Amino acid sequence: MQSRMGAILCNLCNEENIFIFIAVAMSDVYSPPERVAVESHCRGMETYKAMYKESVEEPHKFWGRIAEQFFWKKPLPTDLNDFMKYNFNVTEGPIKIEWMSGAQTNICYNALDRNVENGLGDRVAFYWVGNNPEDKGQITYSELLADVCKFSNALENIGVKKGDRVAIYMPMITELVVAMLACARIGAVHSIVFGGYSADSLATRICDAGAKILISADGVYRGTKMIKLLEIAVSAMEKSAEQGQEVTHHVCVSHIPRITGSDAEQQKNEETIARVWNDKRDLWWHEVMRDSSTEHECAWMDAEDPLFMLYTSGSTGKPKGVLHSTAGYLLYAATTFKYSFDHQPANDVYWCTADIGWITGHSYVTYGPLLNAATSVLFEGTPFHPTHKRCWEIVNEYRVSKFYTAPTAIRALMKFGDDQTKDYDLSCLKVLGTVGEPINPEAWQWYHKIVGNSQCSISDTYWQTETGGHIITPLPGATPTKPGSACFPFFGVVPEILDEEGKVIEGEGEGYIVFKQPWPGIMRTVYGDHDRFEKTYFSKFPGYYMSGDGAKRDKDGYIWITGRIDDMLNCSGHLMSTAQIESVLVEHPDVAESAVVPIPHNIKGEALYCFVTLNQNAEFTQELVTKLRNMIREKIAPFASPDFIQEAPGLPKTRSGKIMRRVLKKIANDDKDLGDISTMADSSVVDVLVEKRREMMEKK
Ligand code: PRX
Repeated sequence: MQSRMGAILCNLCNEENIFIFIAVAMSDVYSPPERVAVESHCRGMETYKAMYKESVEEPHKFWGRIAEQFFWKKPLPTDLNDFMKYNFNVTEGPIKIEWMSGAQTNICYNALDRNVENGLGDRVAFYWVGNNPEDKGQITYSELLADVCKFSNALENIGVKKGDRVAIYMPMITELVVAMLACARIGAVHSIVFGGYSADSLATRICDAGAKILISADGVYRGTKMIKLLEIAVSAMEKSAEQGQEVTHHVCVSHIPRITGSDAEQQKNEETIARVWNDKRDLWWHEVMRDSSTEHECAWMDAEDPLFMLYTSGSTGKPKGVLHSTAGYLLYAATTFKYSFDHQPANDVYWCTADIGWITGHSYVTYGPLLNAATSVLFEGTPFHPTHKRCWEIVNEYRVSKFYTAPTAIRALMKFGDDQTKDYDLSCLKVLGTVGEPINPEAWQWYHKIVGNSQCSISDTYWQTETGGHIITPLPGATPTKPGSACFPFFGVVPEILDEEGKVIEGEGEGYIVFKQPWPGIMRTVYGDHDRFEKTYFSKFPGYYMSGDGAKRDKDGYIWITGRIDDMLNCSGHLMSTAQIESVLVEHPDVAESAVVPIPHNIKGEALYCFVTLNQNAEFTQELVTKLRNMIREKIAPFASPDFIQEAPGLPKTRSGKIMRRVLKKIANDDKDLGDISTMADSSVVDVLVEKRREMMEKK
């Protein structure tokens, strides 16, 4: 039950003690609701503590028991020391992480064949829900297996082999799941690029991965807008060819003709196809599938063989291909899914709104749910189309019991008021998850009360592309939650909080969150650049994996993620590096220099604020601002579009020429207290920037 302390204090509130009230209300503790706890895989904190202890002290026992539930072509290592081998200390040699080496398995086999063999072939794997409410479908485990086998054969027919990288650029349709599982089945490494990325971003990723195969679709609707994916894919293939990386085969799903849309858009789609299609390179999905066999013997993969790579922003600007391997990822995606959402295979309907193009979609739309034989909703659309009630309509219609979304979506929905859910029966909901960025207590409480009717557990799951799955998260039937805290470590995860000098902070305190030993799902390397892997994550604090986030531990041991401590920003749950944006801005001939900082945004979490210094004789105009904004949309993605671009005749720099972002952040936030500026080479730039900001805001 919720602590009543806050409510009692509320009655005592007056102007002066309102802050005391807020502070106390924020530390409310919510016990797991009985209806969730009663069926939990991990009921009560004592159970959690016992399981956690075993998971970190005897990982081979804990994970070995879980591993036995899956199929192994070659058995798990019997020597305990072979179960998990690692070096986290750069000063003692190369960073290395190995789990269950010597064993062989296939994740697709475990996600599909194993479930079908267990008699679950007729179970629905996905209810597909289209952008337009009239478009819907479903696919069972047997049907999914048949399609995956067919596509595996098709990929092999076009020459794809074990270890080859396959780029995927698709909307949220079942073929995307089929494509990734088929890659996993034949041992090819999939590299999925979110369908909102631009041609340039896709090309960079195709080149870095050395992908010769691309799988895409003709297009998709986002709300009322048609996105011409094929056109973007073709442009990306041309750009990658210019950089020496030829895509030899491109398989495209014909999606637009089978969904609801306007005749005009249909016509446009046909025209695009006629214009860009290249018979030598492009193949239709339905044609390669037509005569393909539904029988396919999967490739047996060594435990540490790569499974997929997924690009994430790097603070130098160049994206990093985070590489995950087979067996460890399998165990971790399956186990985190089961426990963080308390998955009940017989009666749950689960829905994660994330796009498969992000890690959340990899682990918690595809792999985690399928490895648990779950029935899920696969949603192509947005929460706001045709109206902001779309999520509640879907929850109601499919009787969704576990729902997983991002704080940015919750905050955007909150704006539409508290009665938006009242026409829907949401009593089916039991666990509400959030991911991607810190959730503010107000949004947490709204989610809990308005969506969950105060009857659900909230799982604020903290993790990263690099971690493969949740690392700090409450468990729905065990953890008393505090709004805004991701609570405690998942099984196998050993966090520490360090100060700037690398000293461990015991008890209450704030610093860098780091991790002492590997869990099965942690990344193994940066594709093609192990050195960058070691430098980024292991060099600042030898002996630890450093996530790049700050965190504080409260007096009760709860962990609160405070956000990035490097030059990254998190806009609507999309992690971006400031360097990545800056390098696009300086590509414009008028721009000499730029600096990008995050500013708080009440829906997106953080928004981008750019300072640009122009070359002599160049003029800062609205036209230039629009041009710069469009360049970012084109070179990176529309979601990276800045909220503010301000002229900066000079940037605040130290005497050694380093840009003082701390000061820029304050200026962008209109914070008059600039802190210590004694190291600034020329402090007069500050007044100019403050004045330019004022001018810009007045014009807005
Ligand atoms: O800063 C943290 C934030 O998102 C970053 C990871 O981003 P990405 O690799 O794109 O993966 C997003 C989905 C897992 C983290 O370094 N982050 C993610 N979840 C949370 C979070 N910050 C606070 N609370 C969370 N629950």
